Amino acid sequence: MDKFRISGRRKLSGNVAISGSKNAALPIMVASLLASGKFKIENVPNLRDTRTMAKLLRMIGAKIDFSNGEMKIDTTNAKNPEAPYDLVKTMRASIYVLGPLLAKFGKAKVSFPGGCAIGPRPIDLHIKVMKELGANVEVKHGYIQAECNQLVGNKISFQKRSVGATANALMASVLAKGETIIENAAQEPEISNLIDFLNKMGANIKGNGTDILRISGVSKLNPVEIEIIPDRIEAGTFLLAGAITKSEIAITNCIPEHLKSLIEKLEQAGFKFEIKNNEIKIIPVKTIRPVDIITKPYPDFPTDLQAQFMALMTLSNGKCFIEETIFQDRFMHIAELNRLDADIRIEKNIAIINGVKSLSGAEVMASDLRASAALVLAGLAAKGETIIHRIYHIDRGYEKIEEKLSNLGAKIERIGD
Ligand code: UD1
Repeated sequence: MDKFRISGRRKLSGNVAISGSKNAALPIMVASLLASGKFKIENVPNLRDTRTMAKLLRMIGAKIDFSNGEMKIDTTNAKNPEAPYDLVKTMRASIYVLGPLLAKFGKAKVSFPGGCAIGPRPIDLHIKVMKELGANVEVKHGYIQAECNQLVGNKISFQKRSVGATANALMASVLAKGETIIENAAQEPEISNLIDFLNKMGANIKGNGTDILRISGVSKLNPVEIEIIPDRIEAGTFLLAGAITKSEIAITNCIPEHLKSLIEKLEQAGFKFEIKNNEIKIIPVKTIRPVDIITKPYPDFPTDLQAQFMALMTLSNGKCFIEETIFQDRFMHIAELNRLDADIRIEKNIAIINGVKSLSGAEVMASDLRASAALVLAGLAAKGETIIHRIYHIDRGYEKIEEKLSNLGAKIERIGD
């Protein structure tokens, strides 16, 4: 298991280009199963999760070439409707194959998913969607087994907004008979990217960017080309790297609109920004003001930046509250940040952060993807050396993070066990 060694307190400078979005690439890769033929997907990040998804699609029968951010997928022989435990256990997004396999083949057998250890992550909504579209679904021996003659459009009203269940509902309903209406749909930019892809393939989805989606089923979809949007979570993490090291850096190849909630909070903390087209420059401040956040679905503050924002708040000049409303146990970074001399305590789903004057390096353990990013940020700001164990988590979602940070002037190296 690799580790990171970080020597903190170095100023960063320069530009960093943001990679394609992991969470947009994964459902789009899977949606290619809905048509037979050759797809080209540009700006795909080379990450453990995208490589795992490629493996899963290969097991289903797709041919995949992946180099320099371009993924070619040939789904002509993708006909095996089974997603086995060995692959699915390592990545929750494997559940995405449920909708397309059912829609295309009338059959799917998908193992219960794994993924980040951030509390119970049920898949009841995914199963409910398939049932509402007319499939018979059984859960047996750790597998979801679903069957149908043809899926039939219906009204799907989500009590809770779910990115994954919205994506699965879209992918299942585009080939269903008749109309499907999805109410309280997720509005994340990654969902918009998926809708653009499906519509390009010939689907008929209306309401992109809103929480009500109307899908008129079509009988066939065609292979197309698409570009993955920039990763707003990676972009946010780099802005926070600039903020916590009090450095002026610019992120390029991003969509500033997707980072509005973070920028607003950073402005409240005192930071200033220069924003143009697809570039954001952060201007540092001497004193970081404490700012409260509550994580909520897009366009509000993303749970995927909660841990990294908390790392910044450990160095504010006061007290603030961070409330996590999406995932119950997404506070595993707190004990590790406290090892670096942060002062954070938890009351239920609220973290109470008392800003400290400085952090100091220590050995810490990454517990999940975004928690690892928070520890990297804290390590960059801490006095002395920080060793982060189990960084395989970070490789799931950040492309070449140590290379990008080193190019900005950070001292970070990967060491093998
Ligand atoms: C996606 C993202 C993840 C992000 C999360 C929330 C991907 C691959 N992952 O995860 O990075 O943190 O959105 O923005 O895009 N829920 C249920 N039942 C279900 C499904 C979800 O109760 O069947 C709950 C979850 O436990 C959570 C909430 O709904 O409390 C939102 O989760 P969801 O949006 O589904 O997250 P994911 O799609 O898994």
